Amino acid sequence: MERKVRSHWASRIGFIWAAAGSAVGLGNIWRFPYMTGENGGSIFILVYLLCVALLGLPLIIAEVMLGKISQRNPVGAFQKLAGKNTPWQLAGFMGVLAAFVILPFYSVVAGWCLSFLYKTITGVFEVGHSMAEIMSIFKQLTSSPIQQSVFHGLFLAMTVGIVLAGVQKGLQRWTEILMPALILILVGLAGYGLTLPGAQEGLNFLLSPQPEKLTSQSILSAMGQCFFSLSLGMGAMLTYGSYLRANDRASNSSLWVVLMDTVIALLAGFVVFPIVFTFTHEPAQGPGLVFVTLPASFLQMPGGTWIALAFFILLFFAALTSSISLLEVVTAYFIDEHKMLRSAAAIMPGVVCFLMGVGCAYSGGYFDFLDKLASNYLLPLGALIISLFTGWKLDKKFAKNDFGGTWFYGFFYPWLWCVRIIAPLLITLIFLNALGIF
Ligand code: PHE
Repeated sequence: MERKVRSHWASRIGFIWAAAGSAVGLGNIWRFPYMTGENGGSIFILVYLLCVALLGLPLIIAEVMLGKISQRNPVGAFQKLAGKNTPWQLAGFMGVLAAFVILPFYSVVAGWCLSFLYKTITGVFEVGHSMAEIMSIFKQLTSSPIQQSVFHGLFLAMTVGIVLAGVQKGLQRWTEILMPALILILVGLAGYGLTLPGAQEGLNFLLSPQPEKLTSQSILSAMGQCFFSLSLGMGAMLTYGSYLRANDRASNSSLWVVLMDTVIALLAGFVVFPIVFTFTHEPAQGPGLVFVTLPASFLQMPGGTWIALAFFILLFFAALTSSISLLEVVTAYFIDEHKMLRSAAAIMPGVVCFLMGVGCAYSGGYFDFLDKLASNYLLPLGALIISLFTGWKLDKKFAKNDFGGTWFYGFFYPWLWCVRIIAPLLITLIFLNALGIF
C-alpha cells in the first residue's frame, strides 16, 4: 500500500534541538539531583558519566540510526528491518508500552511544577516562608488528587496540542523556542548558585568521590538514570530519528544531544547543591528536593519569588519538550501501523495517560512503582535489544555509511564493539548484580 509521505525535520539543527529537548527534562533537573543526593553524590555522578560514555552515547546513535534507516515508528522499524513477526519487534511494542508507563507519572510531576508556577504567580509563596511552610504546601498538593489531576490534565493537554501540530510546526517549532530559553535560565541560576556561601560545599559533594557509598542498587540507578535522561531504550530517539532526512547523520547529531543532556544535568547539580548546602544541608531529600528544599531556599533570599518563578518556568519548559517525545512514540505508532489521523493518534493515548495519571495522583506508591519499572527495567531491557539488533543483525553498511566521510569515522569500530559486546555485557552485569546474583 502507498504510504503517506513521512514528515521530516526541516534541518539537522531542528533534529538536534528536538532530540535534546526530549532528553533534557525532569530527568535532568528534578530526578538527577535527587538521585545524586540519595546515592552518595559524586560517586553516583562518576558511575553515571561512565554509563553515559559506554552505554548512552553508543546506544543513542544506534537508536537514532534505526529510526533514520527505517523511517518508521519503533514497532514498524523492527518489522521493516528484521522482517514481519520476528521477536525483535517486541522491543518496539515494549517501547510503546513504556511510553504509557512513563507519560502518566511524568505528567503528574510536570503538573506539580505548573501548580508551583501558579502558586508563585498568585503570591502563595512569599519571601520569608520557612521550610516547614513550603513542606506543608507541597504535602497538601501531593495529597490532593483533585488538585494534582487538574494540573496534570492541563499539562497533558498542552502536550497533546503540540503533538497535534505535527513534526515541523509542533515538535520542532516549540523545542527551538523553549530549549534556548531553558539554557539561558539554567546558566543564570547556576551562576547565581555559585556565588552563594554553600557553593564550595555543594561542589565538593558533587565532585569528590566517596567510593564507600557505592552499592549495587546505586549502580543500577545510575544506569537507569542514564537511559531515562537520554530518552533511550523505548523508541523516543528512534521515532525522532525517523524524521531525519536521508542525508542527515545519526551519529554526530546524537553526539550533540548527549553532550547537551549531560552538561545540563551537571549544571542542574550546580544550581541545586550550592543552594542546598547554603540553606538546609539535606541533600538526600528524595523527590521533594526541588519542590521543597529549593523553593524554601529561594524564599530565604531577597527577590526569591523571582528566582522561584525562573526555576519553575525552566522545569516546565524542560518537561514539556520531553513529554511531547513520549507521546510522539505512541502517535507515530498509531499513524504508521493503524493508519490513524494524527488527531486521533494523539488525543486517544493522551486521554488514556490522563486517566492513568489520575491513578498516580491517588496513590504515591503506584507513582514510584511506574518510575522504577520504566527507568530500571523497561528502558535498559529495550536498550539491550536495540544494542544486540544494531550490533549483530543490522547490516554493517548502514552504520558505516552514517559514520562515513566525517571526522567521526574513526569512531566507527569502537562504536560497533561497544554496541556488540560492551553495552550488552554491561547492562546484563548491572542487572545481575542488582538482583544479587554476585
Ligand atoms: N529524557 C526525559 C527526561 O530526562 C524523559 C524521557 C524518557 C523522555 C524517555 C522520553 C523518553 O526528563
